[in-house]
Amino acid sequence: MNKQLLLDQIKADILDRNICPDLAKQANQLVFGTGDLDAKVVFIGEAPGKNEDLTGEPFVGASGKFLDEMLESVGLARTNIYITNIVKYRPPKNRDPSREEKEAFMPFLYAQLAAIAPSVVVTLGRHSTNCFLPGLQISAIHGQTQKISVEVKSKQYTWTILPLYHPAAALYNGKLRQTLLKDFKIIKQITK
Ligand code: URA
Repeated sequence: MNKQLLLDQIKADILDRNICPDLAKQANQLVFGTGDLDAKVVFIGEAPGKNEDLTGEPFVGASGKFLDEMLESVGLARTNIYITNIVKYRPPKNRDPSREEKEAFMPFLYAQLAAIAPSVVVTLGRHSTNCFLPGLQISAIHGQTQKISVEVKSKQYTWTILPLYHPAAALYNGKLRQTLLKDFKIIKQITK
C-alpha cells in the first residue's frame, strides 16, 4: 500500500475507534499531520492549540512561525518535513494532555512513523519526548540523539530520536531560544 493510503487508513482508524471521545467532542477537528510523506525528519509536538484546531494543521500559530524560522536557519522548509502531534485533538483551554490521552494516541503515532520511515524523529518538548524516552529530563537530554526500538503490528522498528525544547517554551526565553537554534543544527548534520 502506498504511504498516503496507509496514512488515510490510520486517520480513519482514529475516527472509527472514537479515540478520546471527550476531547473529540469539544474539538473542531482531528489534526492528523502534514508535510512530505518521504521526509527524512518527522517533528512531533504535544497537541493542537486553538489555531491548529481551526485550520486542521499542526503548528500554525506563534510557535509554528518560530519553528519555520528555525527550519529556514538550517535550510529546511515545511515542504521538506512531516509534522504531527502526540495527541490529535485540542485539549480544552490548551491544558496539558493527560497520560491516558497520550497513551491512547501512541499506537497511531507509531503507525504514522512506520509508514513514513524517517531517518530522525524530532520530539518537541517534554510531553513528546517522554512518550519516546520516559523518565528523562528534557533539560538533560536535549540535542542528543538516542535510538529506540518499537514493535508496530508485529514488526520491529528502530528510530533515532532527537529531543528538542518546545518552540513555545523558547519563544520568549532568549537563552532557550539560543539553545534550540543550536540544537537545530544537529538535524542538518544527521540527515546529510
Ligand atoms: N504546540 C504543539 O505542541 N503542537 C501544535 O500543533 C501547536 C502548538
